[in-house]
This record gives sequence, structure tokens and C-alpha cells, in this order.
Amino acid sequence: MPDHPVITIDGPAASGKSSVARLVAQRRGAIYVNTGNMYRAMTWAVLDRQIDPADAEAVRQATAVVEIQSPVVAGQTVVQVNGIPLTDADLNSDPVNRAVSHVARVPEVRDRLVAAQRALAALGPLVMEGRDIGSVVFPNSPLKFYIDASEEVRSARRRAQGHADQVAERDRLDSTRKTSPLVIPQGAVVIDNSHLTLEQAVEQVLERLPSP
Ligand code: DC
Repeated sequence: MPDHPVITIDGPAASGKSSVARLVAQRRGAIYVNTGNMYRAMTWAVLDRQIDPADAEAVRQATAVVEIQSPVVAGQTVVQVNGIPLTDADLNSDPVNRAVSHVARVPEVRDRLVAAQRALAALGPLVMEGRDIGSVVFPNSPLKFYIDASEEVRSARRRAQGHADQVAERDRLDSTRKTSPLVIPQGAVVIDNSHLTLEQAVEQVLERLPSP
């Protein structure tokens, strides 16, 4: 267990967990880690090498030589692929949105990224968000949250962000994969923010944390 328990925030696509996690980290002086961006960076590397993301064996081989680094910049980790920083546009492109759930199903990809995520705990207090942070990456954390929202609300949020990805299909793939599927982690506080403002959702997390 790290010295400071990691605050884990899981939930489905476009549930608002990134916005909540970023603000909770700022208010608590913790480093914000978006693990979805690590899977997106691996996916970018797969597409850059013209590999079919649905071909698990080809993905396994191609990603074996891809190094993902996560230096901290302005209170949050940013992702680099073999030393090359990726932009938000690279990480959130339509091809990456379509392919990321396939790449994230490959056990060897997950093993390497989970190890990298655990190693980040040495940096200091963290708020880490993703799909398996409370269930697999830090299952012993006493500070687990699961942020949910209805499918209608989540699809509308993605459209408002200018993304055309199919959140329902991504959720189906993320929830049915064999390795570390999206689940509500044992002991997690569930917050449905379909009808909450961002500030209200952040408050619901903060009020459950021990005083700093
Ligand atoms: O959080 P996001 O929507 O940017 O995540 C992109 C994809 O990465 C998501 O569809 C599934 C995968 N992912 C994962 O499998 N495990 C995580 N801890 C984070 C993301």
C-alpha cells in the first residue's frame, strides 16, 4: 500500500469522471492521473504502425516495444509514447475512440499499464481514474468512487464535446472483456451524476474523504 491511499475513480465512458477527478485532485493537492489516456496512447501507437486493433496477437507483438511514459506537468500526468508527447487531439481522435476498447482487451497491454499505474503511487498522493482502478490497480484503497450517468446523458456529453463515438458500444466491450472488465469495485461509493452539476458531484466525493 502506498503511504497515501490513492483516491480511485472508476466509471463508464463519458460519465463525467475525468472532470470530477481533476477537480478533486486540485482541491486535495494530489496528482491527477487519467489512465484512459495511457490506453489511448497505446492505441495511437498501434494505429501509427498500421496494425489492425482487432488482431490481438498483432497488437500484443507491436505494443511489446512501445514504452508509455507519464511525466507530471502542472499537477497531472501527461502521456508520451517512446518519448513523444501526444496531444489531446491525438488521444481523442475518432480512429482512437473506435479502436481503444479493442487494444484495452489485450492482457499483456493491461499488465504493463497496470504496473506503470501502480508505480505512479511513489510520486505522492494521487487521484487516479479509469475502469479498473478500484477493482484491480489499487483494490486495497479505502477511498473508492464509481461515477455513473445514464446512457442518454453520457451520449449527449460526448456529442457536446464534438466526439461521435458510440459510448454504448465502448461500454459493452469494456464491461464484457475477460481481463479486468468495468465493474463497480467492492467498497466503492457510487455517485450517479446524471442530474448533478459538476460542483455537486465533486462535493459528494470531497465530503466522503478524511480531512486532509
Ligand atoms: O476513460 P476513457 O474513456 O478515455 O478510456 C478509454 C478506453 O480505455 C476505455 O474505453 C477503456 C480503456 N480503459 C481501460 O480499459 N482501463 C482503464 N483503467 C482506463 C481506460
